[in-house]
Amino acid sequence: MENNQISTQRLKIRRFNGADLTDLAAFIRDKMASEYAPYDTQWPTDDMNMKNILGYFMSDDAWYAVELSEIGKVIGFVCANHNVEVPNLGFTIHSDYQNNGYAYEACLALMQYYKNAFGIKKFVAGTADCNEPSVKLLLKLGFKKYRSVEESFAKDKDGNPIIFKGSAYECNYE
Ligand SMILES: CC(C)(COP(=O)(O)OP(=O)(O)OC[C@H]1O[C@@H](n2cnc3c(N)ncnc32)[C@H](O)[C@@H]1OP(=O)(O)O)[C@@H](O)C(=O)NCCC(=O)NCCS
Repeated sequence: MENNQISTQRLKIRRFNGADLTDLAAFIRDKMASEYAPYDTQWPTDDMNMKNILGYFMSDDAWYAVELSEIGKVIGFVCANHNVEVPNLGFTIHSDYQNNGYAYEACLALMQYYKNAFGIKKFVAGTADCNEPSVKLLLKLGFKKYRSVEESFAKDKDGNPIIFKGSAYECNYE
C-alpha cells in the first residue's frame, strides 16, 4: 500500500479519515434504504451514530474507503480482516455509483493487496441468495458457493425475525 492507499485505474482504496463523515453518512443511509438491507448487517442511520461508525472504521484496519479518484468522493467501503487466516470480504457502493464496475475494481485490488502484503490465499463471503448484484459480484471475483445457510439480521414491524436463505462462498486466491 503506497502512501497508505491502493490506486486502481479509477479508485483509491484507503483508510477512512475524519473528513469522510458526509460521504459515509450518504452511503450508509443509502445502503439501509436498499431493498436488500433486511438481509445484511443493520447499521443505525442517525447523526450521532454516523460519527460512531466513522470512528469505528477509522480505528479498525479491516475497513477501507472506496474513493472515486476523479472527484475525490468516497462512494462506499470494502472490508476484510487481514489478522485472520481466511478473511471475510464485505462491500458496499452507493446506489448512485453502482453498475460501473467499481465494486469489482475495489474488491479485486483489496484481495490482490492482501495476497501480496499478508500472504492471504483464501477469502470467504456471504450474501442473501436474492441479492443478485452481490451474488454476481462474488462469482465474477472467483468465489464459489460451498454452503447454504438460513440467517436473520433484522426484524419485521411486528418484531419477528426476518429469516432468509443465503449462501457462504469461498475463493482460493493463488
Ligand atoms: C453488491 C454491490 C456492491 C455491487 O456494486 P456494483 O458497483 O454495481 O458491482 P460491480 O462492480 O460488479 O459492477 C456491476 C456492473 O457494472 C458494469 N460496468 C459498467 N461499466 C463498467 C466498467 N467500466 N468496468 C467494469 N464493469 C462495468 C458491469 O458490466 C457490471 O455488470 P455485470 O456484473 O452484469 O457485468 C452493490 O449492489 C451494493 O453496494 N449493494 C448494497 C450493499 C450490499 O448488498 N452489499 C453486500 C452485502 S452481502
